[in-house]
Amino acid sequence: TPLPELRAALLAWFDSAGRDLPWRLGTEGQRDPYRVWVAEILLQQTQVARGLHYYDRFLEAFPTVQALAEAPIHEVLKAWEGCGYYARARNLHRAAKLIAADGFPGNYDGWLALPGVGPYTAAAVASLAHGEARAVNDGNVRRVLARLYGQAQPTDAWIGARADALLDAARPGAWNEAVMDLGATVCTPRAPRCPECPLAAWCAALASGTPTAFPAPKVR
Ligand code: ADE
Repeated sequence: TPLPELRAALLAWFDSAGRDLPWRLGTEGQRDPYRVWVAEILLQQTQVARGLHYYDRFLEAFPTVQALAEAPIHEVLKAWEGCGYYARARNLHRAAKLIAADGFPGNYDGWLALPGVGPYTAAAVASLAHGEARAVNDGNVRRVLARLYGQAQPTDAWIGARADALLDAARPGAWNEAVMDLGATVCTPRAPRCPECPLAAWCAALASGTPTAFPAPKVR
């Protein structure tokens, strides 16, 4: 696969057709880490369309990490109401206290050390807020890569290696959000919009004639 052409095609698509989302304010690769971090924690288990309302409400209640750190836990849990998985809100609060004392982490390893932050969230925040070349790996990324390479049964290790190799190191945050947006709006699970896809020319699943066969349903 010609990686430079493929990367340019997806990033051009993202620049014109990417979604306008409230945590995407600010300069690419230098966004407000607080806004990005809260969004990525929320979006771990909540879809973007459902999450928007909760995101605005949470940021209105706690506009800064200091405000979050100083709030009593019951107010944090109240602002999280409806999002479920309350451990996320408790971890946000604990991490906010650490950040208020020590400042924001500046890289992937620093984020990974905070409560509630796993490899997905650390890679998302490091790329979006710090411009660090870290690839994210979520359900959308898995589907997009499985189709692009025609891999019916991708393992997590395979996805991780492919995601790392494909990542555009010059625009890692935009790249990550481009793959996620593509998976959410074009390369959808049941009825992908292949005629609109910027990666159609390189897609093995499309060439096979049955793009939705990739990835195959997980066998349990
Ligand atoms: N899902 C999780 N994080 C996202 C982001 N930053 N953009 C789009 N979809 C997402």
